[in-house]
Amino acid sequence: MSNFGIFPFSAPCGAEVMGIDFRKPITKDMVKTLNSAFVRYSVLVVRDQKLNPRQMLAAVSHFGSTFEQQNKRFSIPECPEIHYISNQERYPDGTRYIPGAGFHTDHSNDLLPPKATVLLAIRLPDHGGDTQFVNMHAAYDGLTSELKRRIANLHAVHVYQSTHSERKLMDLSKDNPRYVPKSSVHPLVRVHPETGKKSLYINPIRIHSIMGMSDPEGIELLNDLLKHATQTKYQYRHQWQPYDLVLWDNRCLLHKANGDYDHNQERFLYRVMLKGDKPV
Ligand code: SIN
Repeated sequence: MSNFGIFPFSAPCGAEVMGIDFRKPITKDMVKTLNSAFVRYSVLVVRDQKLNPRQMLAAVSHFGSTFEQQNKRFSIPECPEIHYISNQERYPDGTRYIPGAGFHTDHSNDLLPPKATVLLAIRLPDHGGDTQFVNMHAAYDGLTSELKRRIANLHAVHVYQSTHSERKLMDLSKDNPRYVPKSSVHPLVRVHPETGKKSLYINPIRIHSIMGMSDPEGIELLNDLLKHATQTKYQYRHQWQPYDLVLWDNRCLLHKANGDYDHNQERFLYRVMLKGDKPV
C-alpha cells in the first residue's frame, strides 16, 4: 500500500485516511497510526472501501471488539453483528423512519456505551443525507466557567427512548434477543479514557432526567447545552460517497443524519459499533 497517511480536515474534528485498502492485510505500525489518529481526530474517513460484511468486520477489528447493538430488527442475516441503516423502513403507522435524525451519541442508555460507531455507505441518494459531527471537547471548552461549575458534578439518567425526545426510535420487539438496560446513569461531563480531556456527554434522545433536578429544569439545561454545543463552529459535516467507511468516537462527539433528500432514493449503510468503557 503506497502513500499511507492521515490528513486532518480544517474542521474541529475529522481526518481522511489515504493509501489503505482494508481488503488487504495491514501492518502493526499502520494499526497503531490509525488508532492514534482515531483518538486525536475523533472522526476517520476512508474513501472507496468496497468491503463485504465479513471484510467490514475485519477492518473494524483493528480498532476494538464488536459491541452488540440494541435493536436486533436491523441486524443483517448473514452477519448479525452488523446492522443496517435504511430510509426504506416505516413505523407501524406507515410513516417513514429516518434513522439517526437529531443530534445524539449512540446507545448511551447502556452501562458501557460503545466507544465508536462505524458506517459503510452502500447506496446513497444523489444529493443530501450528510452526517454532522459535533466536537464535544470543543463545546465543553467553550462553556463559561460558571456553567462548567454548575454542571461539574451532575449526572443524567439515560433510557432507551426519552419521553422528551423529539425523535421517535423504532420500538424494541418483545422478543428482542439482546438484553437492553432500562436505564443507566452517566456524568454530564465525562473524561476521555485515552486523552484525559473533558467533554460534554449529553443525548437529547436518551436523557430522561438530570439527577437532583425537576424534569422541566433538567430539560431546560439540556436544551441550553445542546444549543451551545451544536453551533456550526464545533462541527464537521460529512458528505457521503459510495463505499466511504467512516469511524467516529462516541465518547466525545454528537452526530446526526440529515433527512434532507429525496426519500424515493435509497440511503443504505452498514453499521458496526465497538465496545467502550463506563463514562466517568
Ligand atoms: C447513526 O446515527 O448511527 C446513523 C447516522 C447516519 O445515518 O448518518
